[in-house]
Amino acid sequence: MDDIKILKGNIIYTKTKDEFEICEHGYLVCKDGKVEGIYQTLPFRLGGEPIEDHGDCLIIPGMTDLHIHAPQYTFRGTGMDLELLEWLETNTFPEEAKYKDVLYANEAYAKFAKNLKHSSTTRACVFGTIHRRPTLVLMDHLERSGLVTMVGKVNMDRNSPDELREGTQESAEETVEWMKDVQHKKYKNTLPILTPRFIPSCTDELLDMLKMVQMRYQIPVQSHLSENLSEIEWVKELCPWSEFYGDVYDTFGLFGKDTRTIMAHCVHSDEREISRMKENGVFIAHCPESNMNVSSGIAPIRKFLEEGLHVGLGSDVAGGSTENMFRAMAHAVQASKLRWRICDDSLEALTSEEVFFMATKGGGEFFGKVGSFEPGYEFDAVVLDDSRLAHPQELDIRSRLERMIYLADEREVVGKYVKGKEIDLS
Ligand code: GUN
Ligand code: FE
Repeated sequence: MDDIKILKGNIIYTKTKDEFEICEHGYLVCKDGKVEGIYQTLPFRLGGEPIEDHGDCLIIPGMTDLHIHAPQYTFRGTGMDLELLEWLETNTFPEEAKYKDVLYANEAYAKFAKNLKHSSTTRACVFGTIHRRPTLVLMDHLERSGLVTMVGKVNMDRNSPDELREGTQESAEETVEWMKDVQHKKYKNTLPILTPRFIPSCTDELLDMLKMVQMRYQIPVQSHLSENLSEIEWVKELCPWSEFYGDVYDTFGLFGKDTRTIMAHCVHSDEREISRMKENGVFIAHCPESNMNVSSGIAPIRKFLEEGLHVGLGSDVAGGSTENMFRAMAHAVQASKLRWRICDDSLEALTSEEVFFMATKGGGEFFGKVGSFEPGYEFDAVVLDDSRLAHPQELDIRSRLERMIYLADEREVVGKYVKGKEIDLS
């Protein structure tokens, strides 16, 4: 027997970055965890199936957060008057060191997973800390949430405080042990991702060893790239042999090609770096709020889109203050307008369609056929009730979605499905 689910409501999604597909008071049909189709009138053959009627609510694809730090959730919204490297040293590293304590990690990660579950996010790529068992605790919580995530034990063997620095050999060995633990756990929705923090905190020797781990277990990679000008200068000093920042990852086989890779930020990527990312199929996680908060700059996202690079959005908590992906969309539009106005009027500001595409299908592609309601896509859907935000005038579906981008939080999320399974939001 086929497993059929039918949702009724105002369906809106993007196939391309250029336009919304809208079906008002339509039927969204899920078969065996995948989108079967969208219908204005339900086909006769489906007449006997029960319908989940969501009335006048909006139904959109689930969002993919391509870049978020779970251990930083505890201090989100604080220390936002600092620049990146100072913020890492004074706020981030001391907090992450606390996760050595499994009990602390358990308490903090429970809160993180609970709030992520209630958000519009259905998929996320998540940084843990260097600590192996606490990272498994994070994975346990995320598995119970029903979301699909990729989670990384972080690697750091230089330029970090003593309590947050591993030996080179130790870092690689702990990663292998962590991979064995993960295999043993047999998670269904929680996948490992190799996570060298960034070049300033990973030696060449460590990167070389991590490539061995990557090849042995065939896992994807996530890291940071060209976020901040001082960071880029530092990488030049640390790796004088490299052509540019991304060339360091590429030299060690951790930069796309047959290794699926996400690089967060790419605010200051030069032409060589951009063309290497394009050649290698690297995914860019654009994290606009973080880029403003820690004074990184504004990434040339219009250029990346025009070049046909893979671009998704990330909250980058706690560089970003919230896991709410609607905020990431709004910030992406706002940042692009400032960039156009102040520094480069050759790149036009982003549209609502483009940021919605990046938050759904653009980032979702890292997980496969995810982030759209086209037939065959994995059935990740979010039901939004926007009635809290009262208005006297008529609004069309597109305007209602635009309002959500600027105004929605978890209160609007009244239903959520991941791979066809309903998430319990009670
Ligand atoms: N670069 C290295 N580590 C981090 C981090 O935790 N957050 C951000 N935004 N950038 C980083
Ligand atoms: Fe980050």
